[in-house]
Amino acid sequence: MTRKGIILAGGKGTRLWPLTKYINKHLLNIYDKPLIYYPLSTLMLSGIRDILLISSKTDIELFKNLLGSGEKLGIKITYKIQNKPNGIAEAFIIGKKFIGNDPCCLILGDNFFYGSNFSEILFESNGSKENNIFLFYSNEPNNYAVCKFDNKNKLIDIKEKPKKFISNWIVTGLYFFNNDVIKYAQKLKPSKRNELEITDITRIYLKMKKLKFTKLNRGFMWMDNGTHRNLNETSNFVKSIQEKQYTIIGCLEEVAYRMNFISKSNLLKSIKKIPNSNIKKYIKSIINE
Ligand code: DAU
Repeated sequence: MTRKGIILAGGKGTRLWPLTKYINKHLLNIYDKPLIYYPLSTLMLSGIRDILLISSKTDIELFKNLLGSGEKLGIKITYKIQNKPNGIAEAFIIGKKFIGNDPCCLILGDNFFYGSNFSEILFESNGSKENNIFLFYSNEPNNYAVCKFDNKNKLIDIKEKPKKFISNWIVTGLYFFNNDVIKYAQKLKPSKRNELEITDITRIYLKMKKLKFTKLNRGFMWMDNGTHRNLNETSNFVKSIQEKQYTIIGCLEEVAYRMNFISKSNLLKSIKKIPNSNIKKYIKSIINE
């Protein structure tokens, strides 16, 4: 069984108007590269090589132009359309055929993750049979799905965008599920805001006592990028780390090479096609390490 990966990159990005009048949110830049590179690199770091990208009819071609078949990265990317933003959980219905009988991992296309041992955490989750979600301590929890714990720190409920304070622990947009998720998604009813809610899926797993969670620790950075402020903050974060450490976050070629998805000679071939730029210089430096 090989886990399949899904990136959901549709929606209207209304809070980012007028930028999203002419460009899909996930193609906007986070400092020096498109936002979509970051969730894609997260899936790749998990060891996932078979990936479905879902976006709207008007935007899907833009993603195909940017990422192609994935061959140069040693992965396979296929594409499907979501007709309307009917909710995050619809990804599992749209992706039903793609997932087949395998387990899967969904990442929201606007989610940015960065932390020192994150690759190990991801790799472990991919190899595990458990259904896993990732929690982040947020000072604005009510914009997200929020976790409720009992006094023994046991997760007892998850509420989507609650009105009242529950806790600071929120559910990020990265979900490792077994194949049952297709069945659960197909049974969902639209919520009050007329969406198939991802939180209804996590609650089903929780109710069945089949949900594990991983708390991302204090040194960790997570952000979803739905507002101008978020885009700006994530960009500044990426800039700082990259400049201080001479590293590049979300460099797809580097991830492909380090994960052994491509050989050194393939990497050399693919950089020949990259115009002179910082990223080219950086990839060359990795090859010469
Ligand atoms: O980022 C984590 C949060 O993401 C979770 O804590 C929430 O449980 C989850 O509902 C979601 O909340 P958001 O308010 O951030 O969802 P948003 O509508 O912004 O959509 C998240 C991403 O998914 C975004 O990149 C657009 C994409 N999307 C969303 C919907 C509803 C689609 O491609 N299609 C859709 O139908």
